[in-house]
Amino acid sequence: MKIILSKNRTLFTFLSAFVVVTVIMLLSSFGSAGRSAGVIDADTLKGLKDFYKDYFTIGVAVAPNNLIGAQAEMIKKNFGSLTPENVMKPGPIHPSENKYFWDDADKIVAFAQANGMKVRGHTLTWHAQTGAWMFKDSLGNQVTKEVALARLKDHITQVVSRYKGKVYAWDVLNEAIVDDNDTSKVFRQSQWYKICGEEFIGKAFQWAHEADPKAVLFYNDYNTEVPVKRDKIYNMLKKLLKAGIPINAVGLQGHWHTDDPSEKNLRDAIDKFSSLGLKIQITELDVTIYTSRTDTVNIGFTPEREQKQIDFYKMAFKVLREKKNVVTGVTFWNVSDASSWLDRPRKSYPLLFDVNLKPKKAYWEVVKF
Ligand code: XIL
Repeated sequence: MKIILSKNRTLFTFLSAFVVVTVIMLLSSFGSAGRSAGVIDADTLKGLKDFYKDYFTIGVAVAPNNLIGAQAEMIKKNFGSLTPENVMKPGPIHPSENKYFWDDADKIVAFAQANGMKVRGHTLTWHAQTGAWMFKDSLGNQVTKEVALARLKDHITQVVSRYKGKVYAWDVLNEAIVDDNDTSKVFRQSQWYKICGEEFIGKAFQWAHEADPKAVLFYNDYNTEVPVKRDKIYNMLKKLLKAGIPINAVGLQGHWHTDDPSEKNLRDAIDKFSSLGLKIQITELDVTIYTSRTDTVNIGFTPEREQKQIDFYKMAFKVLREKKNVVTGVTFWNVSDASSWLDRPRKSYPLLFDVNLKPKKAYWEVVKF
């Protein structure tokens, strides 16, 4: 009897040990590249937004078809805010003078509401993805400034009113400043500028504010860390604020690459814009592994390019965390490396999640602090 009992105990001990080891191995396999195996990893249960809950909101740009299946689950886990990548832009949402197309934007807003997420509206006034009809009369001639402004007012009022209380922030004006190193060239020669001069800029913010006084209103642009362009934007914003125009924040799009911006230029841009009393968000973050259009050597996610991307992401998030008093949000432009708007002419691997929606090594560096 004694012998049988002790045999059973040995078997029991052996089985228990087996179960424990198996559970540990299973749990650690949920971790991903860059994590050491064999450790039960509570971090894998958290999403990106959870690591940053004491810092700023983490968001992502989406199309309605991102919000189904495994991708929807991954988005709910990792992000606290959605930006419609295209469907709220003037062209898609307002295809002709008397026609608005709300369905796609409504789907994104409904998903956000159902899952307790915020929505950033993008974008009310832009030179691109805007119906040509806005600038033409029925004969195809260019409209007057009065007509153009009346149309812009109707557009902004309708769109902002529809999502009042549901969209907490708007990119009111996108990319109005030129990249030119010539400091005398300031405003992009868009149709809006050519027809209306500077006037449309302040008006756009006023109309957005009238339609939803609680919405946080952004000026949004790229290359905001390049000193010449940064200063042009700063001067424009300073003048607008002095004139009492309701602007609350600056969106640094954050279409960066692994060599640019430098840590200094990133810090300086945040400091300079926030010195005007404005909040800052990174609104369209992605970090391509290519440093230019002509960077075609060793195409692909090579170990060297991967390491440079890891270093860049680490640096950028360190700066952003340090500046959490003024940085209120960071939004990624697309969900994962499976599909990015930068994938043409070659795949760019610019995000923190890989083609299988799994966290990359850069992700684990971004959440390690
Ligand atoms: C891009 C979208 O990601 C693409 O799908 C679309 O074809 C073109 O626009 N700056 C912006 C964004 O403010 O709206 C742009 O989005 C990327 C650059």
